[in-house]
Amino acid sequence: MKISRSLLLFAIFLGIFAPLGCTPQPDSPAAVPPQAGKTYADLIVGYAQLGAESEWRVANTISIKETAEQLGVELRFLDAQQKQENQIEAIRKFIVQRVDVIGLSPIVETGWEEVFLEARAAGIPIILVDRRAAVPEDLYVTYLGSDFLEEGRNAARVMADLVDGKARIVELVGTVGSAPANDRYAGFREILREHPGMVIVDSASGDFTRARGREVMAAFLKKHGSAITAVYAHNDDMALGAIQAIEEYGLRPGVDIKIVSVDAARGAFEAMIAGKLNATVECNPLLGQQFFELALKVVNGESVPKWVPSIETIFFPENAEEILPTRTY
Ligand code: AHR
Repeated sequence: MKISRSLLLFAIFLGIFAPLGCTPQPDSPAAVPPQAGKTYADLIVGYAQLGAESEWRVANTISIKETAEQLGVELRFLDAQQKQENQIEAIRKFIVQRVDVIGLSPIVETGWEEVFLEARAAGIPIILVDRRAAVPEDLYVTYLGSDFLEEGRNAARVMADLVDGKARIVELVGTVGSAPANDRYAGFREILREHPGMVIVDSASGDFTRARGREVMAAFLKKHGSAITAVYAHNDDMALGAIQAIEEYGLRPGVDIKIVSVDAARGAFEAMIAGKLNATVECNPLLGQQFFELALKVVNGESVPKWVPSIETIFFPENAEEILPTRTY
């Protein structure tokens, strides 16, 4: 049964806000000595970015850099070029440099405990931005970012509505071992359990990039042909790569094969306007302002919630043209 878009968005709205009301949000640990009175101009922040793999990531980096400049924060920014070892090395450099706060978007969830312990021993707080790390909660002060599990659930809800509960789906998974790939994978499946007519026929990683999205989709089409009726892409870049592969195969993306992705980047709006993408679940990369506000609070010994969730929605082709001019990424 089809449900109306507004009802769907209302349910999603509840999904976003209900956890805020009932999830305990413990204060940050007392590991950080209060240095009351610091201003943005006093702050030295080290930021270990994971790379530049997508439109989303580029926007995220711009947001961090531009906000630092506007606020007058001294930012030491390192791009790890998709390698965890480079992020770990960056954190160690920031510890030697004795920055006030370290910001980190962990490329994968595991393997962080040792270097986080080193930062804690040096008294330097870590703020996780965009992605979580699987470490005990007392090793970082706060996580600023999206509810990736809910994004996966929302993608499945939207897909179920689009295909009327019946589909043969291929899935383009993000970077293996990353929090968004793990959670978008799990959240999508959680909702699919309610829709036995929707079957995932294949699933493989496209590493969050357009080029890999295209390659993996071409391989899916070679293997399953027109038996594929839907694509779930963990980000817009991979969906855009898949659109190309579907056209090269001679089918119509968005029509013969329905496509739902995550991010809500400008490229996705253009694809929706062209009728080639059916929906995009928003994941907000513009985290600069909130990140530096948290950093300042933390160095001043103020308490911060353990998770600061991003507020996000879902976009559809119907109003893509009207919304596109307002999108900044
Ligand atoms: O961690 C956020 C994800 O990383 C975005 O969805 C994706 O586009 C990016 O590469």
